Amino acid sequence: MRLLSSQLHFPFISWLCYAILSQAAPTFNQQISQRAASDRFVFCHFMVGIVADRTSTADYDADMQRAKAYGIDAFALNIGLDDFTDTQLGYAYDSANNNGMKVFISFDFSYYSSSSGAEAVGQKIAQYASKPAQLIVDNKVFASSFVGDGLDVAAVRSAAGTDIFFAPNFNPATGSSTDNIDGAFNWLAWDSNGNNKAPTPGHNVTVEDGDTTYINWLGSKPYIAPMSPWFFTHYGPEVSYSKNWVFPGDLLWYRRWNDILTLGPRFLEIITWNDYGESHYIGPLSSKHVDDGASKWVNDMPHNGWLDMAKPFIAAYRAGDSSPTAYITEDQLVYWYRPTLKSLDCDATDTTIAPANNASGNYFEGRPNGYETLQDTVFVVALLKSAGKVIVNSGSNSQTFDAPAGASAYQIPMGVGSQKFTLTRDDVTVFSDTSLRDISDVCPCGIYNYNAYVGTVPAGAPDSLGPDGLASLTVGLHVSTCSATPTLGAASKVAEREAYITAA
Ligand SMILES: *[C@@H]1O[C@H](CO)[C@@H](O)[C@H](O)[C@H]1NC(C)=O
Ligand SMILES: *[C@@H]1O[C@H](CO)[C@@H](O)[C@H](O)[C@H]1NC(C)=O
Repeated sequence: MRLLSSQLHFPFISWLCYAILSQAAPTFNQQISQRAASDRFVFCHFMVGIVADRTSTADYDADMQRAKAYGIDAFALNIGLDDFTDTQLGYAYDSANNNGMKVFISFDFSYYSSSSGAEAVGQKIAQYASKPAQLIVDNKVFASSFVGDGLDVAAVRSAAGTDIFFAPNFNPATGSSTDNIDGAFNWLAWDSNGNNKAPTPGHNVTVEDGDTTYINWLGSKPYIAPMSPWFFTHYGPEVSYSKNWVFPGDLLWYRRWNDILTLGPRFLEIITWNDYGESHYIGPLSSKHVDDGASKWVNDMPHNGWLDMAKPFIAAYRAGDSSPTAYITEDQLVYWYRPTLKSLDCDATDTTIAPANNASGNYFEGRPNGYETLQDTVFVVALLKSAGKVIVNSGSNSQTFDAPAGASAYQIPMGVGSQKFTLTRDDVTVFSDTSLRDISDVCPCGIYNYNAYVGTVPAGAPDSLGPDGLASLTVGLHVSTCSATPTLGAASKVAEREAYITAA
């Protein structure tokens, strides 16, 4: 099933992110827990395969600075065998060094060969091992993978010619041994049916099941626990890598962060920074990349609020704390929802209502396979300094919740129309805002778009796809109402918003 996950990434690479902790004036108990936790790292998977358009070290600076500011320690640079790989790795390593970040290579075995690629993997590790931004763990050069079961790890070590901390994404189910590895990364960040699709009643392998399997298999060796906010991909016959399914997302991002604080693994890997095609990016839309056809469901769908939500959890994880409460420095509401209800019928205009290459077994026509596992729900996470009331208006649905200090989550049924989120205390409005994106009863660009729109109150900085990231937007569309242009915050919306703020 993980193989299939890699097919999702086909022409790409990914990175990991990872983290360390530091704090001032600790008490004795804090010193103990910090000492215990101080070797924890947060990684974030970064796809090098979609950033062929980057032309300088500076093109990586914004990603490095942003990830670091949120407590991510290292990007896991997912690489295949593209001819631009070394150019991009060079830029990434240099930018990381300029910005106080770390990076390491994550070999994508959709491209590398697990039967004959060991020497190439070892040589590539050697090529970057002495760069100052290379992640070193336990005095060893860190490296990981996507899949790769069967790889001759002894041959990798020999070709690397240096001590390596090799923590690949081997799968216990394949019979891989842990003898020659230093740790392992589990890719399965979503509940599944055990066969790379959404769970069905009676076939439900949860993320926690995956944790248990890996931890038991690894014994005393460290585990890289996966976490991801969402999964939706919707490529039709307009590309050769057609695929169309979801894994359950909904409140996963919030639930998983809470579970991770309890589980306390040594390493975490967020999936991903920039895999727009599978809708699990937590990096900005503006992070420079080329369009592999994903812009149809990514345009006007920022996810930055998810990284905001993660920030106090990342800080808690690094500190070995089981609660994010102490790390919430200002009130914030983070909300997300799909742009349309499941009942909306887009069959007449959707891009996947046609036969396409299904060699992968990942192609389905119409609504994405697994869509039934998603709820027609607006999700809100409150990050509060002190208790308050959270008021959610989704179309004509409205609900008020008593929210405690700390992090808490709420949900209400999706309603077509505007989406408004308010925090009050003692009947006084602390802040209130209306999302830039309505829930609609019109198929966006004609398609089934099951990506999530993520916003915050107070609103974050505007974020939109650049020209390279929009280049294929209209390819294969069946409607002419969509153009390759960001529209959030367009004049009419801004006017509406300003009118609202003035009135408020
Ligand atoms: C899978 O199991 C989890 C944990 O019990 C549950 O939350 C989830 O709803 C189940 N999914 C399906 C599709 O049955
Ligand atoms: C693609 O293959 C999968 C796996 O065999 C199958 O379940 C699915 O129905 C196929 N899709 C189409 C559109 O035939």
